[in-house]
Amino acid sequence: MSDATKEAQLLAACHAGDCARVRELVAQGAEVFVTDETGRTALHFAAASGSAETVRLVLEAGIPWNALDAGSYTAGDYAEAGGHGAAYDELVQAGIRAEMVLRMLNKEPAEARAAANEDYLAQPVEYSGDKLLDAEKNGVMMSWEAPLMELHAQAVCAAPGGAVLNVGFGMGIVDAALQARQPGRHVIVEAHPDVYQHMVAEGWAARPGVHIVFGRWQDKLAEIRALGPYDGIFFDTFGEFYQDLDDFHRAAFAADGAEPLLRRPGGIYSFFNGLGGDHKLFHDVYCDIVCADLRALGIDTQFARVASDVVMDEATWKGVKRPYWMIKSYNLPTCTWARE
Ligand SMILES: C[S@@+](CC[C@H](N)C(=O)[O-])C[C@H]1O[C@@H](n2cnc3c(N)ncnc32)[C@H](O)[C@@H]1O
Repeated sequence: MSDATKEAQLLAACHAGDCARVRELVAQGAEVFVTDETGRTALHFAAASGSAETVRLVLEAGIPWNALDAGSYTAGDYAEAGGHGAAYDELVQAGIRAEMVLRMLNKEPAEARAAANEDYLAQPVEYSGDKLLDAEKNGVMMSWEAPLMELHAQAVCAAPGGAVLNVGFGMGIVDAALQARQPGRHVIVEAHPDVYQHMVAEGWAARPGVHIVFGRWQDKLAEIRALGPYDGIFFDTFGEFYQDLDDFHRAAFAADGAEPLLRRPGGIYSFFNGLGGDHKLFHDVYCDIVCADLRALGIDTQFARVASDVVMDEATWKGVKRPYWMIKSYNLPTCTWARE
């Protein structure tokens, strides 16, 4: 039997979910890292079969959980298309394990992260109708997110008169939604000079209860803390890493022993959940990771599933370098102190 035949048989056995046959072919030395003419790996075929056991075997043989075919589909997309929940969960669990290991091995140093963020902050941004773009035409903020921002504002500002904090002004959509809910104090942190200028030109400094903190949140924590604690906090920045979000959580929830930014008890926190937003499988993995990280800080997270189908429309992304959200439903997080 030629190697090519063996490999074709391997893909066929994965497609059939025939775990024993896959095991046999691997033991016979079949090359696992093969793809068909559309770039589908053994993992895509195993996921399409719905056999969680075959998925696990192929993962153990070394195919990465996040492999993409030529159409940019994950194995998770194939599992979901067939309604194979157990195979999908197998992929999610593999993703969580792999990301946890990667995280330990590859901690991006704070200075490198700050440099990337400052790179963005040093370039001009452009307000162009329904979007805010950076110098490379990446979407910093887009108006299709407005219904989500309304829901985030509702979550963190349930009643008038309280103190709210929003990190990242962008197009001011969430801040307008917060203002409509009449907070007593409304602190907005923004680091980009063009965005800051825009906010001031639009009269934000004079709006009821508004206090603008101009600078990177990392550099302004003492000022932000002095204006707190907050009944509601929303976080949505740009040009930052997952670790920056995690650092913010540590500051907001007092992992460092300082006063928490979020009022305890009763405070409500939310963040723009764009994590892994170009593939549902990546997003589900990161939703699980962020939940676990928040739980370790004493925070419970509930996700509300919200339809976000508008993003599938090509016209939405016209003029934007890369769609940053390609999933039909959005997991809107509401986070509270545990054991209140
Ligand atoms: C996605 S936009 C926020 C959109 C906003 N939620 C809205 O409703 O329009 C992100 C904003 O965070 C700002 N930003 C980026 N890094 C920041 C940092 N380290 N500290 C404070 N603001 C930052 C960006 O300049 C940008 O205005």
